[in-house]
Amino acid sequence: MEQTQRPTALITGATRGIGREVAHQLHAAGYAVFVTGRDGTLLATLQSELACPGLALDLAEADAASRLFTEARRTLGRIDVLVNNAGFNRAKVPITHVSTEELDTSYALNLRAPILLAREALNEMAPRRSGHIVNVLSSVVHAKLENYSVYSTMKYALHGFTGCLIKEARLVGVKVTGVYPGGVDTTFRAQARPDYLRPESAARMIVHCITAPADVVVHELTFRPIVETNF
Ligand SMILES: NC(=O)c1ccc[n+]([C@@H]2O[C@H](COP(=O)([O-])OP(=O)(O)OC[C@H]3O[C@@H](n4cnc5c(N)ncnc54)[C@H](OP(=O)(O)O)[C@@H]3O)[C@@H](O)[C@H]2O)c1
Repeated sequence: MEQTQRPTALITGATRGIGREVAHQLHAAGYAVFVTGRDGTLLATLQSELACPGLALDLAEADAASRLFTEARRTLGRIDVLVNNAGFNRAKVPITHVSTEELDTSYALNLRAPILLAREALNEMAPRRSGHIVNVLSSVVHAKLENYSVYSTMKYALHGFTGCLIKEARLVGVKVTGVYPGGVDTTFRAQARPDYLRPESAARMIVHCITAPADVVVHELTFRPIVETNF
């Protein structure tokens, strides 16, 4: 166990994109971070950049969330901040072509994993009456887009869960933030979108919520690139 006086953070989806930038920025802000993703090579690179612990696993597996949380807590001693960031959208698919496999996979990663990690975090944070859970959702929650039904369904459901979590967590002194980014130029999308937000910028907005003054809880934060109009 790391004997740290530093605040600690567990960040999912940290091998690429927004999560990788959140890990870097929290590390720079003095946090002891624990990072995770599936790609062991990318994870090892990040771990050597930040000299931090991590664990490569597939969060779509049923027992992955509890394995991850147990290992992060064992390593860091406690978890002050959970950033539920890992997520994916395989492709834009019309509803007539949605497969059962796609529904199940999207559910497992985009909805089940963050719910199970939030459960673990709340159980760990509640006795200390402190902590912060950040769920990375999407601005699709504020829109209805063709060919995004599966991804939108999971993010809408996570939005509902986050609203309930805000209410239950506040009773035990734990902050909860739902973040709703618009388009970000990451490997999440098939083509580069240089007109979209840089992942560093999206991460900065998330880190602002985490490092807000102690008497402030940001419940919801929506931000978009200025070119985005689908709301
Ligand atoms: N980019 C956008 O326009 C946008 C907009 C709104 C919201 N978001 C949300 O922002 C979050 C981060 O997205 P991003 O744009 O940074 O995407 P990204 O660049 O594709 O990164 C996704 C991260 O999630 C991890 N991940 C994916 N599947 C996983 C699995 N089965 N198990 C464990 N980790 C997994 C990836 O790790 P590995 O590759 O190592 O598995 C990677 O670190 C997601 O929740 C996404 O829905 C993105």
